[in-house]
Amino acid sequence: MGFHTNNEEVGKVNKEVMIVTGAGQISMAIARRLGYGKKIIIGDKNIDNANRITKIMNDAGFDVIPVEMDLSSRKSILKMIKVAQNYGEISMLVNGAGVSPSQASIETILKVDLYGTAVLLEEIGKVIKDGGVGVTISSQSGHRMPALGVEIDEMLAITETNKLLDLEVLQPHNIQDTLHAYQLAKRCNEKRVMAEAIKWGQKGARINAISPGIIVTPLAIDEFNGPRGDFYKNMFAKCPAGRPGTADEVANVAELLMGPQGAFITGADFLIDGGATAAYFYGPLKPKNKS
Ligand SMILES: NC(=O)c1ccc[n+]([C@@H]2O[C@H](COP(=O)([O-])OP(=O)(O)OC[C@H]3O[C@@H](n4cnc5c(N)ncnc54)[C@H](O)[C@@H]3O)[C@@H](O)[C@H]2O)c1
Repeated sequence: MGFHTNNEEVGKVNKEVMIVTGAGQISMAIARRLGYGKKIIIGDKNIDNANRITKIMNDAGFDVIPVEMDLSSRKSILKMIKVAQNYGEISMLVNGAGVSPSQASIETILKVDLYGTAVLLEEIGKVIKDGGVGVTISSQSGHRMPALGVEIDEMLAITETNKLLDLEVLQPHNIQDTLHAYQLAKRCNEKRVMAEAIKWGQKGARINAISPGIIVTPLAIDEFNGPRGDFYKNMFAKCPAGRPGTADEVANVAELLMGPQGAFITGADFLIDGGATAAYFYGPLKPKNKS
């Protein structure tokens, strides 16, 4: 561990800092692609996950500190930011924390994926270094839901974070199930990124969203082998790419968005789903009852 201890000392004399939330495959792929030479703070509600990714990355020469944090709590987000600032200025954000429709209740999905992401983008936007960059991981799910209309879009984009969960469209009686809650959360991510890009832009900083389709992760593999396995196999067979994606392909997009080649891209949402959404609207994945 001598190497890591040395790195920590170097960190104190000012390294740029990358904040990563959610110690999953997608976060790690992006952190590995862009986090070299930086102090990386990995925050996760499940500290075991953060510790696991920290070990893999530190064993590969990165400089990672795990932090226990809850994306649904502003206090917890602010605490993580404070830890990060001990090491230097925050120049990158990767928000890959989240819960999926099969993992959580409607309330939890809204609190973590929708409210938590909005608060994180707001708080990091206040402290991001001039010229900094961020990505938040949204989902193809947000692209499948029908349009919500100009007024609701605007409310999702700019309502004060503390009042977001009071919006009528987000009340439980207006939400059919956890998938619907997830779609709303991911649609909201897209709109918040647009609104935040204005504020981040005042510092020459950029923020974008990436909306992946099905990406192979341990959780996704469980789904492929579970009772809904045939549903997934059908989706892969009928989408243009003919397969699920990998976290490293999501990192390819992050590399473009967060690097100099992406200098003109901010407030945008990038769909990377092997064409599954296209097939859902206009091809062989179109639901039977959808005209
Ligand atoms: N894997 C996919 O197919 C896929 C597709 C589209 C979008 N996404 C999105 O990508 C993001 C990352 O997904 P993943 O597949 O890497 O999942 P994952 O489950 O591997 O990682 C998510 C991490 O977030 C953490 N987390 C959950 N709730 C949290 C909270 N309140 N505070 C802090 N951390 C919390 C979990 O402990 C977990 O370590 C999520 O937002 C997900 O919606 C994933």
